[in-house]
Amino acid sequence: MIKTIDPKKVSVAAFHSHMLGAIAPRPIAFVSSMDSAGQVNLSPFSFFNAFGSNPPVVVFSPSRRVRDNTTKHTLENVREVPEVVINIVNYAMVQQMSLASTEYEKGINEFVKAGLTEARSVAVRPPRVEEAPVAFECKVIDVVSIGEEGGAANLVICEILLAHVDEAILNEEGEIAPAKLDTVARMGGDWYCRASGDALFKVKKPVKTKGLGIDQLPKNVRLSVVLTGNDLGKLGNVEALPEEGAVQDYATRPEIKEMLVRFQNDRESLVFHFHEHARELLKEDKVEEAWLVLSQIE
Ligand SMILES: Cc1cc2nc3c(=O)[nH]c(=O)nc-3n(C[C@H](O)[C@H](O)[C@H](O)COP(=O)(O)O)c2cc1C
Repeated sequence: MIKTIDPKKVSVAAFHSHMLGAIAPRPIAFVSSMDSAGQVNLSPFSFFNAFGSNPPVVVFSPSRRVRDNTTKHTLENVREVPEVVINIVNYAMVQQMSLASTEYEKGINEFVKAGLTEARSVAVRPPRVEEAPVAFECKVIDVVSIGEEGGAANLVICEILLAHVDEAILNEEGEIAPAKLDTVARMGGDWYCRASGDALFKVKKPVKTKGLGIDQLPKNVRLSVVLTGNDLGKLGNVEALPEEGAVQDYATRPEIKEMLVRFQNDRESLVFHFHEHARELLKEDKVEEAWLVLSQIE
């Protein structure tokens, strides 16, 4: 059963909680900012993402508090000094980052409260977090407020001027290795998510290829009771079905021959077993071979 919710018919807090529970995991911008008196602030924001790379643009939102419609020091600071450093949070600093989200009085430096080190920035006034694996020095190019009531967004649009990357998180090709980055992300309530171990996996980008699409797959495959949506996604990402010759060669394999004989008068079982076999191959990303198996079905 699907529950349909109209944001105008529930409390702001209730909808906020559904949004944050569903739009997850969210990356975390650990933002250092400064007021016009030079007082430093450090706070995390998970309403954050990247939106372009030429120029490199990121946006985060210190929203109005749902509770009492007050605004965040970070928002006040960027209006006084339109510069920030966006530090990326890894697992090693997640507890300190959370501590920095405490609502300390204005003028309290959360670098000190959270025991993190201020490193001098090059292009902007607020310092970066020395412990962060990546830090982006940014100028604030615009602040767009959407609403005036509790929960309203304030989009802080930033252009990245400089990036600082710890070389320890790079692979041999000089790219950021997700497992070495070990980043954390925010989910609903008190939940976080750690991008490491089994949480990391690859999906081949269909940038150079134009896959057939699930709609073009043979009916028995499309309507399979064995193959999942992910299996069909992998199968539909191929540009062509196997050549007849390759299909016939594959049919000479003992295990395939045995199944073709065993189920020669029972198409339903044949389809079921071939789909199960293909599914095992797909689990190992052997898409081409899975197609050779599936192509044995007339
Ligand atoms: C992981 C995490 C993510 C957060 N994301 C946001 C956010 O996107 N927007 C927001 O307004 N507050 C967010 N908060 C709450 C702020 O960090 C918190 O209100 C903080 O005290 C604001 O500090 P400031 O008033 O010094 O700017 C988040 C807190 C945590 C721990």
